[in-house]
Amino acid sequence: MKGIVAYDTYYGNTKTVAEAIAEQIRADGHEVEVRNVREKYPTPPQGDFLFVGGPNRIAHLSRKTKKFVKKLDVAAWKDKPVVVFATIGKLPDEYATEKEKAGVQKWVLAAAPELRDFARGRGLNAVEEVLLVQVKDLKGPLVDGGLELAKEFTHSFLGKLKK
Ligand SMILES: Cc1cc2nc3c(=O)[nH]c(=O)nc-3n(C[C@H](O)[C@H](O)[C@H](O)COP(=O)(O)O)c2cc1C
Repeated sequence: MKGIVAYDTYYGNTKTVAEAIAEQIRADGHEVEVRNVREKYPTPPQGDFLFVGGPNRIAHLSRKTKKFVKKLDVAAWKDKPVVVFATIGKLPDEYATEKEKAGVQKWVLAAAPELRDFARGRGLNAVEEVLLVQVKDLKGPLVDGGLELAKEFTHSFLGKLKK
């Protein structure tokens, strides 16, 4: 099978996660193509499954990540699993009200499921479980064990795919 791993990134952390996902896809014996959602490609993404992810920016996955999902050819992808992944941190204080600071988890955790539900709303087959990898600081690096988490998640997802 062939997987597409599409990512957005500002500081490189989500790209690193995307590459770890791709490495695991290869390790599990599949083909993979990694795409940056900000770049133009001569052909639309084509594959048997898709990972799409971006950084959590103010409680939503980055706009370019959403745009990628918005532009995805539903007819071509509707029966293929789509997995949403995200890098997450802590909402910067300057963007948060006192109430939000207290409930920061909600802001951190809701963004990837929101994109998953958006994908479902478009008729795509978005997988329930999302992959979240934390960064230590706004610009990274990823938390220790973050890439291993991404690889384990990917391996487990591939194990559940019909051969
Ligand atoms: C303007 C801004 C807003 C952010 N908002 C959130 C947020 O709401 N929730 C969250 O978990 N992380 C937030 N972060 C942290 C980002 O998730 C972090 O920068 C990102 O995961 C890094 O990934 P990248 O290197 O791929 O850009 C924010 C970061 C910035 C710069």
